[in-house]
Amino acid sequence: MSAAGPPAAFSPQRGAAPISASAPTGTRPAGIGQMDWPALRQAVAGCTACDLCRSRTQTVFGVGNERAHWMIVGEAPGEQEDLRGEPFVGRSGQLLDRMLAAVGLTRADAPPEQQVFIANTLKCRPPGNRNPQPAEMAQCEPYLLRQIELIQPRIILAMGRFAAQSLLRSDQPIGRLRGQVHTYHGVPLIVTYHPAYLLRSPADKALAWSDLCLARATLAEQAAAAS
Ligand code: URA
Repeated sequence: MSAAGPPAAFSPQRGAAPISASAPTGTRPAGIGQMDWPALRQAVAGCTACDLCRSRTQTVFGVGNERAHWMIVGEAPGEQEDLRGEPFVGRSGQLLDRMLAAVGLTRADAPPEQQVFIANTLKCRPPGNRNPQPAEMAQCEPYLLRQIELIQPRIILAMGRFAAQSLLRSDQPIGRLRGQVHTYHGVPLIVTYHPAYLLRSPADKALAWSDLCLARATLAEQAAAAS
């Protein structure tokens, strides 16, 4: 991916017919668990499983290396992401990119050890950036799960309370969830603060740094155990 924007393969489906306000929602395409990348992209782009399809500009599928070792999972697209069709492109995305660079990672084109895949728990923007609702999370999770199955990441970094609590089925505060290695569908998962929170609370950047170091150490341990 260049600074000018994602390559065509990552572009959102533009020009899709708008979803009418009265169209029924609540159905997801069948067979998500067997989809390949093109089918999955298409399914997400046309999804009408929840009411967020009515207010979105476009879906935000995710970007990065389809075999990335690191997968980053945020909460949901915000205004900028809904307009651009790419996750984490606002101020919090700039901080995320700096955090990733600090451990030698990037969203730009690079081999799978260096180029992350970035996705969100929700593929559509909640109106006004309100908190995602459990029913929306439930409808959207199969897409994230299929992305994880296709990527087979070695580590998942869950950013922020919503991503962490929903993936881990927990109501524990983020301060309790971070600092340990969880698993999500067999993949080690590390919880850290959301970059938007870190912009408001820069003192906690040191904790986020230690979370990234824990993720890196977990990967190194995995590699040592496999050799
Ligand atoms: N916050 C998120 O959690 N995800 C984005 O894509 C943008 C902001």
